[in-house]
Amino acid sequence: MEKKELDWENIGFGYRKTDMRYVANYRGGAWEEGGLTADDTITMSECAGVLQYAQTCFEGLKAYTTEDGRIVTFRPDLNGVRMEDSCRYLQMPAFPKERFVEAVIQTVRANAAYVPPYGSGATLYIRPYMFGISPVIGVKPAEEYQFRIFTTPVGPYFKGGAKPLTLCVSDFDRAAPHGTGHIKAGLNYAMSLHAIVAAHEAGYDENLYLDPATRTKVEETGGANFLFVTKDKKVITPKSSSILPSITRRSLLTVAKDYLGLEVEEREVLLEELKDFAECGLCGTAAVISPVGKIVDHGRDICFASGMQEMGPVTKQLYETLTGIQMGRIEAPEGWIQVIE
Ligand code: PLP
Ligand code: COI
Repeated sequence: MEKKELDWENIGFGYRKTDMRYVANYRGGAWEEGGLTADDTITMSECAGVLQYAQTCFEGLKAYTTEDGRIVTFRPDLNGVRMEDSCRYLQMPAFPKERFVEAVIQTVRANAAYVPPYGSGATLYIRPYMFGISPVIGVKPAEEYQFRIFTTPVGPYFKGGAKPLTLCVSDFDRAAPHGTGHIKAGLNYAMSLHAIVAAHEAGYDENLYLDPATRTKVEETGGANFLFVTKDKKVITPKSSSILPSITRRSLLTVAKDYLGLEVEEREVLLEELKDFAECGLCGTAAVISPVGKIVDHGRDICFASGMQEMGPVTKQLYETLTGIQMGRIEAPEGWIQVIE
C-alpha cells in the first residue's frame, strides 16, 4: 500500500482530513448497523442535544507502524470500556465495546495510507466520539445519537517533543468533586479552555489542576495524568475519583513493575510534596510521556532534579519501554496489541 506523501517528521498535533470515517446512528432505541463513509460533514437539527446541552463524549487512541511493518493499535478494548462508562454517566446509549473495537479496526484499515511510517515519530490518532443528534429543548437526554470515528496523522502533542515542560498551578478547577472528571465528556475540555489560554498567555505549557474540594492535592492536567518518580526510584501516580483513568498510566504502572522492576504506588499526592520528587511526567495517548521540568505555584518554582534539558532517567526508561511495546520492538503483555494488518 502506497503511503501518502506527508512531511511525517514535522506534522505536529493537528487535524488533517483522511479518506474515510465510521458512522453509526442510534434511532428507535437501537444502534443501526454502521459503516464507512467518505463524507466528513455532519448535518443536524439546530436544536440537537449536543449543540444545546453539550451531550457528547469521546475517546483517543493511536495506530502505529511496527518495526516489522504491521499496523497495530494499543489496548483499544480499554477505550471501548471507558467510552461505555462515559456514555452511561451522560445518559447516552453505550456503543458496545466489541463494536467499538471492530469500528476502530475498519477505520484504521481504510486509512492505512495515513498511518505514519515506523521511525518517523508520528502516529495515526484515532478519535471515536458520540453526541446527541435529535432536538432537545427541555433539559433532558436526546433520543437519537451518532457515533463516529475519524483518524488524523499526528506528531508530538507538545511543541519541542521531549523537552521538559513548565506547568503552572491553576486557579481554576477542571472538575467538581462529584462531577464528570472521571469520564471523557466534552464538557470537561470546554471547562479547561479558558484556563489553558490563560496559562499559555502567561508562558506556561500546561496547567496542573488541584482537587477542587481542598485545593491541596494534585489531580491532572487538561489532557494527561501525572507520574512522579521519587529519589529512590519509586513511581507514584495520583489517586482521585475526579481524574480520567488514563490507559497510558495504567499501562506504565505495569511497565514500571513488570518490565523495570520498580515499586509503584497509586495514592493521593499533596502539592506540598512535589518538591521532594526527582522526576515528573505527563502521560496520555497524545502526551505519551512528556517530561515536566518545573511547576510554578503562584511565584514559587518547584524544580525537578531531572532539570529543563532532558527527560529524567526513569521517565526515559518508561518512555522507551512503552513505545518499544507499541512499535513492536519489545514483547507486549498478552492482549495489549491489536493487529490491524
Ligand atoms: N487525562 C485527561 C484529562 C485526558 O484527556 C487524557 C487523554 O485521553 C488522559 C488523562 C490520558 O488518558 P489515556 O492515557 O487513556 O489517553
Ligand atoms: C488523548 O490523549 O487522546 C486526549 O484525548 C487528550 C487530548 C488533550 C488530545
